[in-house]
Amino acid sequence: MGAKPTEHDELTWAPQFRRIGLLTNVITSHIDLAACSSADFRATDRLMTNACLTFRDLTLGYGSHPAIHHLDGTIRRGSLTAVVGANGSGKSTLMKGIVGVLKPMAGSVIRAPGVHAAYLPQQSELDRSFPARVVDLVSLGLWPKRGMLGRYTKEDRESVSQALMAVGLGGFEKRPIDTLSGGQLQRTLFARVLLQDADLILLDEPFNAVDAKTVGDLIALIKRWHGEERTIMVVVHDLDLVRQNFPETLLLARQPVAWGETKETLRPENLLRARRFHEAWEENAPWCEPEGHDHGQGHDHAHGHDHGHHHGSGPRAA
Ligand SMILES: Nc1ncnc2c1ncn2[C@@H]1O[C@H](COP(=O)(O)OP(=O)(O)O)[C@@H](O)[C@H]1O
Ligand SMILES: [Mg+2]
Repeated sequence: MGAKPTEHDELTWAPQFRRIGLLTNVITSHIDLAACSSADFRATDRLMTNACLTFRDLTLGYGSHPAIHHLDGTIRRGSLTAVVGANGSGKSTLMKGIVGVLKPMAGSVIRAPGVHAAYLPQQSELDRSFPARVVDLVSLGLWPKRGMLGRYTKEDRESVSQALMAVGLGGFEKRPIDTLSGGQLQRTLFARVLLQDADLILLDEPFNAVDAKTVGDLIALIKRWHGEERTIMVVVHDLDLVRQNFPETLLLARQPVAWGETKETLRPENLLRARRFHEAWEENAPWCEPEGHDHGQGHDHAHGHDHGHHHGSGPRAA
């Protein structure tokens, strides 16, 4: 079979995986899971049974430039957390660090053993021009069950159809993905997450470029997953949406500014601090800065100092 499925009822996974690029993050997340039941976890976190994710002075970045640093704390099992912050504040970077597509520059992200993750990347990172149909995209969610070369069974076809029905796209199986509206694409990606049946669900800006009806439907699905005690982190821009639907919030500005109950986290003074931190960040700083330091004066940060320190008056990480 060639790179493009020609038969509608059967498909082979491998060629699609090679071509779909970022959509294959479903694979990465599952591979990474295996690695996470490490001795490191067992030795040090035995008592933290309630933690799904533990961040330890985590620094993530690109090349030698940190994009987010000094993240400490835990994401409880079964919690529903909004991740908020200005553009460029490190929200997507954090998602990638959790999924494992980005390795920490320092510190660590520890996932509790046996936790399976599903990751929905930001729409801007998806290649929509790839000639795939809705069914191809959604079926990727079955990969953990079927394996790379698994055949697409009648049962799978039914699961895909049910997932599409659940997101309001019944009958869309054969639609090319480049013909979908923003809302329909996002629904399709949620159908894939549904099939993944993951304990940890990471959604990066799922409400962007999406109509109000779709936002409502997707929120309902997130609440259903929350009711099923899955652990969920969602990058969201609309703070009203966060206040109405997310019990907990992590406010980022290249570092955690506040983290905890949404009402507390989104207090005006925290939002102001986040803005100050963000505006003060020097884009090319190779390493971190203490809070209150003036970042904007072309100061030379050629030092690679130890990340073991903590900023005394820094943000609270719950
Ligand atoms: N692939 C990349 N290579 C280099 N820098 C990147 C890359 N992706 C993101 N960045 C930088 O990391 C910072 C945080 O980006 P990101 O996590 O995407 O922010 P957010 O999702 O909050 O908008 C930004 O300064 C951005 O330019
Ligand atoms: Mg982003």
